[in-house]
Amino acid sequence: MRILVLGGSWFVGRVVVEDAVGRGHEVTVFNRGRSPAVLPEQVHRVTGDRDRAEDLRSLARQGPWDAAIDVSGSVPAAVLRAAELVAPVVDHYSFMSTISVYRDWPHAPVDEDSPLWDGDPTCDPLTRQWDPDAYGPLKVGCEMACQRVFGNDGLLILRPHVILGPHEYVGRLRWWLKRMHRGGQVLTPAPDRGIQPVDVRDLSNFVLNQVENGGVGIYNVAPDSGSASYGDMLRACADVVRSPQRPATLVWVDEDWLVSRGVTQWTELPLWRNAAAPWSMKTDRAQEAGLRCRPLTQTVDDTWAWLERGGRAVSHERFSEHGIDPAREQSLITQWLAEHRQV
Ligand SMILES: NC(=O)c1ccc[n+]([C@@H]2O[C@H](COP(=O)([O-])OP(=O)(O)OC[C@H]3O[C@@H](n4cnc5c(N)ncnc54)[C@H](OP(=O)(O)O)[C@@H]3O)[C@@H](O)[C@H]2O)c1
Repeated sequence: MRILVLGGSWFVGRVVVEDAVGRGHEVTVFNRGRSPAVLPEQVHRVTGDRDRAEDLRSLARQGPWDAAIDVSGSVPAAVLRAAELVAPVVDHYSFMSTISVYRDWPHAPVDEDSPLWDGDPTCDPLTRQWDPDAYGPLKVGCEMACQRVFGNDGLLILRPHVILGPHEYVGRLRWWLKRMHRGGQVLTPAPDRGIQPVDVRDLSNFVLNQVENGGVGIYNVAPDSGSASYGDMLRACADVVRSPQRPATLVWVDEDWLVSRGVTQWTELPLWRNAAAPWSMKTDRAQEAGLRCRPLTQTVDDTWAWLERGGRAVSHERFSEHGIDPAREQSLITQWLAEHRQV
């Protein structure tokens, strides 16, 4: 197949591109060429800015494609413009959305029919600053933009939960691995909380299987919610980094206590969120359609192996807040142990 990937050089798109080339597809990527990613040499790279209509017009002249996969859309008006301009030269369109479109997440379980935030397919926010509160509604607007152009017959919408694996640039799993490697006492909450991040390679596999089969519709994409726990992930991180000089000692701390001490959920302790249902995404539809997810421990091991090989993710200032300050972490551990008479 001839496949166009809008994006394709940071993380999810990059893995989709490598996977698609590995499957023998003829792949075109469209991005600004700012990231240093080394893509397979067979990839046809088109440089352009998706915010500039003339760049998209000149891209469209290089079609047709059997399928386009929009991995990089987050501004509805820009997604609408791109979809309109490439629609005449693509048969099938996929849009990479997110769990954040659900209004009730992370407070209640979500399936594909759960209520969404209000969205506007023409919205063009003046600022591109990362705003966690705007992200969900903007992605809803992006989905609506795609639906406006492609209807439901030629459109596949993916709503992944958190995505992990080699090349992850947000720095969630990467931070935990590096923290465990530093060793010593490690502040760790919620060992029994179920967790369901999806490995980027499993997401890619699912998307490409769907694309190859002309799959349409909306899919939540994540492993089963009971498949692993937060504790499993953290113990796997501690195991794989193997720092015999200074092994990591996991100090399990009560979640409400952390909240009472002002620890910022999701960022200071990545992937930890003390809400009712942060990891209760229903994914039966995708599982029935063939989604297969590897064990989280394999994602942990492979991400560490990638880091050890010198793997570097693209850097993003907006995600630099991930991870707790070492002095603050130690102070919290000391307080916790003192209060619980373990020192
Ligand atoms: N990370 C998660 O846990 C998570 C969870 C759920 C959903 N998602 C969704 O998954 C997707 C993540 O994708 P990714 O960032 O890993 O994708 P990616 O396709 O690997 O990287 C983003 C691409 O967009 C290009 N790009 C950025 N601005 C552009 C512009 N103005 N014009 C043209 N190209 C542009 C970048 O290249 P240049 O800089 O060279 O232009 C890069 O190739 C997002 O849609 C996100 O909403 C992520």
